[in-house]
Amino acid sequence: MEKSRFENMSFITRAVHGFRGFDPATGAISTPIYQTSTYRHTSLEDIGKYDYSRTINPTREELENTIAMLEGGVAGFAFSSGLSAELSVFSMLSQGDHVVIGDDTYGGTYRMSEELFTRFGVEFTPVDTGDEAAVRAAIRPNTKMIYLETPTNPMMKVTDLAMIGRISKECGAIFVVDNTFLTPYFQRPIEFGADIVIHSGTKFLSGHHDTMSGLVVTANEELAEKIHYMIKTEGAGLAPFDSWLVLRGIKTLPLRMDRHNENCMKVAEFLKQHPRVEKVIHTGLPEHPGHEIMLKQTSGFGGTLSFVVDSVETVKRVLANVEMIMFAESLGGTDTLITYPLTQTHASIPENLREKLGITDRLLRLSVGLEDVNDIIADLKKALD
Ligand SMILES: Cc1ncc(COP(=O)(O)O)c(C=O)c1O
Repeated sequence: MEKSRFENMSFITRAVHGFRGFDPATGAISTPIYQTSTYRHTSLEDIGKYDYSRTINPTREELENTIAMLEGGVAGFAFSSGLSAELSVFSMLSQGDHVVIGDDTYGGTYRMSEELFTRFGVEFTPVDTGDEAAVRAAIRPNTKMIYLETPTNPMMKVTDLAMIGRISKECGAIFVVDNTFLTPYFQRPIEFGADIVIHSGTKFLSGHHDTMSGLVVTANEELAEKIHYMIKTEGAGLAPFDSWLVLRGIKTLPLRMDRHNENCMKVAEFLKQHPRVEKVIHTGLPEHPGHEIMLKQTSGFGGTLSFVVDSVETVKRVLANVEMIMFAESLGGTDTLITYPLTQTHASIPENLREKLGITDRLLRLSVGLEDVNDIIADLKKALD
């Protein structure tokens, strides 16, 4: 990857300007949407850098270089959704390979690993990756990958990234982190030994509930080549217009993340004292078991929290009575959303595993948006009371 002129500037400046800062062909400071599938070759000897948009497109390339720069990796790749990004990462595995995977991943990740890739002879052992002994016990001679989210979705479990970084180096496994919940503004897993970072760009990176996308960043060239092969072969590269939307979202990422973080903390404090709320699961609360690790490896707690209410009736009442807050799947956008993981995001997880994790019929997840926090709290209060 060439170097960015903004390389040594602060994260905020790099997010605003992106990798190149302007389009080299025209000088346009908003990266143009190169809506083309193919490119004229210069000559038989020199077909030029751009040949076919499944493999490379200048709008997507600016997004890919920008996310690689922000995560501190060597190369980035943009896919049509978070799950297609994950597909490219799991597709590096072969029959007989084994993966140690977090036991509280997004439901779609669980479905892809446990249902799809097991059919092709890849084995997965779900473990609490915050528990060093459990991770070490799960490692086998054929363990090729350790895959996790921190904090997890929806239970907000935290893993010490440096600890897994050490274990993965010892056993030669590729260390993959889904950084969707915090984004590189708050957490950069490569600094702690991750080899690959993935994102559902559908969430905070694009940030406006208007596009699907997935991103992969690799820490070395060897892995970059493998993901490049996958984007070319799987054919799920992000379209130019969607790439432009994500790039535009990233320009305001630091501003938005600060507001998400601040609002979420205030909502957590409100919920904590509400009599119908039994438990608030938010990594910013000092009583959260992962709080100390968060302070060590992140610069913020993000915009999501989960909470347990006193009964299923309260769940029903809250979902029926929130007015400004939307009852909807997804997270990480401008608007506050409330989700019921049991039947929505985590419906693919078997009942026994859900129960073990605490994904019960009384658990709700909030993605706290950018509205005036007093309006968010007032809406929740009305629905809960
Ligand atoms: C943590 C996490 N990773 C991956 C995904 C999948 O991303 P997408 O919905 O963009 O395919 C999601 C979706 O909710 C998610 O929450």
